[in-house]
Amino acid sequence: MAAAAAASTTPHSLLLQKTTHNHAFLKPNSATFTLTNQRPAKRLSISCSATIPIQDRPSVQTQSQDRIFNFAAGPATLPENVLLKAQSELYNWHGSGMSVMEMSHRGKEFRSIIEKAEADLRALLNIPENYAVLFLQGGATTQFAALPLNLCQPDDSVDYLVTGSWGDKAFKEAQKYCKPKVIWSGKAENYVRVPSFDGLEQSPNAKYLHICANETIYGVEFKDYPMPSDPNGVLVADMSSNFCSKPVDVTKFGLIYAGAQKNVGPSGVCIVIVRKDLLGNAQGVTPVMLDYKIHAENNSLYNTPPCFGIYMCGLVFEDLLKQGGLEEVEKKNQKKAAILYNAIDESKGFYRCPVEKSVRSLMNVPFTLEKSELEAEFLKEAAKEKMVQLKGHRSVGGMRASIYNAMPMAGVERLVAFMKDFQARHA
Ligand SMILES: Cc1ncc(COP(=O)(O)O)c(C=O)c1O
Repeated sequence: MAAAAAASTTPHSLLLQKTTHNHAFLKPNSATFTLTNQRPAKRLSISCSATIPIQDRPSVQTQSQDRIFNFAAGPATLPENVLLKAQSELYNWHGSGMSVMEMSHRGKEFRSIIEKAEADLRALLNIPENYAVLFLQGGATTQFAALPLNLCQPDDSVDYLVTGSWGDKAFKEAQKYCKPKVIWSGKAENYVRVPSFDGLEQSPNAKYLHICANETIYGVEFKDYPMPSDPNGVLVADMSSNFCSKPVDVTKFGLIYAGAQKNVGPSGVCIVIVRKDLLGNAQGVTPVMLDYKIHAENNSLYNTPPCFGIYMCGLVFEDLLKQGGLEEVEKKNQKKAAILYNAIDESKGFYRCPVEKSVRSLMNVPFTLEKSELEAEFLKEAAKEKMVQLKGHRSVGGMRASIYNAMPMAGVERLVAFMKDFQARHA
């Protein structure tokens, strides 16, 4: 560990002391790394030769030897340089003498962290001033209830366009708080497409039209967005699994929400971007923790927020900006997805992706094996090659490769090479 952290600083020699309790305290910003000890002990000298400071490392495409390629749908892989930066700041954040986990959420240190996270996210997504950005808890699932509670009254109509099981769950939760209607569902076809927007029969006066922008389990992604037919209605999107994977015109939406644990951070943070004029009409029964207006008025600091998670999201946002912003990120995601989908489509049916080509997700790639009896072997051999979490969701089976922003191209290339080799041996 010490060597790994040190390897990302300038060349120097480390002084290490053995500790009685095996606690290694790193001070990565100093020229000397000291492992403290209660009593004098033997000194070891280790030299490190890497020369690039962590924050200036090229993003995403690096992968150290001891990391695996993690294709999990979430919590998911995080950028290696972000993890290393967090590691280097863990013990003593910016010379404050504390870790982020120990700071008062009202202190100047944490305020600077959350303010920068918000500013960077605003820059990434070009979020206008008339939208509030909230860092909340409870995951995207909590928003399934918070949405109707904040945006409508019990007798109000709202519409749900269901392209997978997350949209379905959101609809079911809304039934407790208003009068939602499913205006289209892909369930009968096993969720392989998005409908044409022209034929949608939206409810008159619907307060909002809800979509799940990327259905994580089925791999169906909206490439364009429907408009609510009622002039006062707004579009609401669950962007949990494609948040910050590409530019999005925020002004098309009344509200966007996303659990962080796929593309932008650890679990425990849910980001809500909401047009300010929609705030302040929550149903009377709305718990204070679900009231967006309260959180907006308090800059997400009404109560103790998930501080460390927000800090991690902030590091990811900074990293995405350094990569050139979401246009650049999208290009990388398109390339990664293209080589994987091509491998599937060119396998002569050995592998198959059921999703209609025009709406295939850039983030979650589900595929089946023609010989389904080989699935267990596929997963076993992939794990041996340091590629894990490729099993499809328990509700659909098959395989699923989640290739979020932080999955390096090298991970996708290794998967594709493995798939071709596996096919050659088992076709
Ligand atoms: C699209 C989508 N929406 C909602 C959720 C639920 O998120 P959470 O577990 O943060 O409540 C998930 C989780 O995987 C998801 O993929």
